[in-house]
Amino acid sequence: MDAIRLRGGNRFSGVIPIAGAKNAALPLMAASLLTDEPLRLANLPGVADIASMKNLLVTHGVAVANGEAAGEASFDASGVRDTTAPYDLVRRMRASVLVLGPLVARFGRARVSLPGGCAIGTRPIDLHLEALRRLGAEIDLVDGYVEARAPRRLAGADFTFPSVSVGATENALMAACLARGESVLRNAAREPEIVDLGRCLIAMGATIEGLGTDVLSIQGTDRLRGARHRVIADRIEAGTYAIAASMAGGDVTLEGANPETLRALLDTLAGSGVEIAENGDRLRVVSPGGNTAGMDLVTQPYPGFPTDLQAQIMSLTTVASGASRITETIFENRFMHVPELLRMGADIRVRGATALIRGVSRLKGAEVMATDLRASVSLILAGLVAEGETVVNRIYHLDRGYESIEAKLAACGADIERIAAPA
Ligand code: UD1
Repeated sequence: MDAIRLRGGNRFSGVIPIAGAKNAALPLMAASLLTDEPLRLANLPGVADIASMKNLLVTHGVAVANGEAAGEASFDASGVRDTTAPYDLVRRMRASVLVLGPLVARFGRARVSLPGGCAIGTRPIDLHLEALRRLGAEIDLVDGYVEARAPRRLAGADFTFPSVSVGATENALMAACLARGESVLRNAAREPEIVDLGRCLIAMGATIEGLGTDVLSIQGTDRLRGARHRVIADRIEAGTYAIAASMAGGDVTLEGANPETLRALLDTLAGSGVEIAENGDRLRVVSPGGNTAGMDLVTQPYPGFPTDLQAQIMSLTTVASGASRITETIFENRFMHVPELLRMGADIRVRGATALIRGVSRLKGAEVMATDLRASVSLILAGLVAEGETVVNRIYHLDRGYESIEAKLAACGADIERIAAPA
């Protein structure tokens, strides 16, 4: 597996183009299953998870054609012949489960492998299943597969999620668009990626109210049509580079970002002494580097501080002046970056879901590895400011979610290279 080698200490200045949001693109691609007309998406990021979702859709019989411009593709689900999502594809990417709602809503049946264990906690799919059952799907678990049937179409329902789930909200929202009658989804997730999905569904002919709030009302219809849609900017990618600039010191402009979707992070950075300037879709981050102030933060569903930026902000606190406290409330076991940061000289103590961090004056380069996407990138950020050389192994996870990461960092002055695994 490839590794990334970097030498810390350079200032970080330049312009970084922000890619389309992976977490918006994945449900949008699954939504193509809702119609027999082509769905044309633009601004798809060039990351491995997008390729995995394309593979899964092709397995179902969706015709996928890449457009002329990078990031454009059309998805034509008029010839779907197979409603099974096999274990081998689902196990590699949990978001594969997003095909469940669209398949059962349009074809009255779906067979989707259970995602299985995951490095950042148990991550069950009970909320997805509960919502689809409430919409009238009959669901059995057979040999590790979810078997869902709705021979006489799904029926609108009023459902309150017992806890907030991004994926379950997306699955239920897509399914409800093709159900008979009205559905109301309460305690729904409000992430910008869900708003983006809702806008695309509306362009496909759906009637949805309440996007961006925690109550979604959907008027079901018999048929959706094709549409064109541009995926929103990746707030997690933008946030990651904003943190990189804050740590390393420098002056970075993130182009094509959406600062509105990053409010919790930008307020946190501004509160710790980083200068943030917003100008439309350009976000400028100016930082002296190193000794930003400590912070106290808790991850929350949107609009709270995103769990997907928790590992990265923890890297920043390891070199902040003074102490910080970070509490993770979304996923259990999402502190896997901690032992690796300790190996680089960080001072972190974990008590349950809370990490207490004392800033040190300098991290030291080391050989490290991580077992999930955001943990991996947090080690890259630590390496950018560490003394000497850092090698981050098993970067397979990074490639799942960050487009051209070493090129984007190198363009801002980072001393970074990819080392290809021996063939
Ligand atoms: C999505 C994001 C992921 C992000 C997460 C939280 C995508 C492709 N992934 O993941 O990057 O970290 O939101 O912002 O968009 N849960 C259950 N039962 C369920 C579903 C979830 O108990 O049926 C729990 C999870 O274990 C977790 C919490 O609910 O503790 C939130 O998970 P959820 O919002 O569903 O995350 P994902 O949609 O998987």
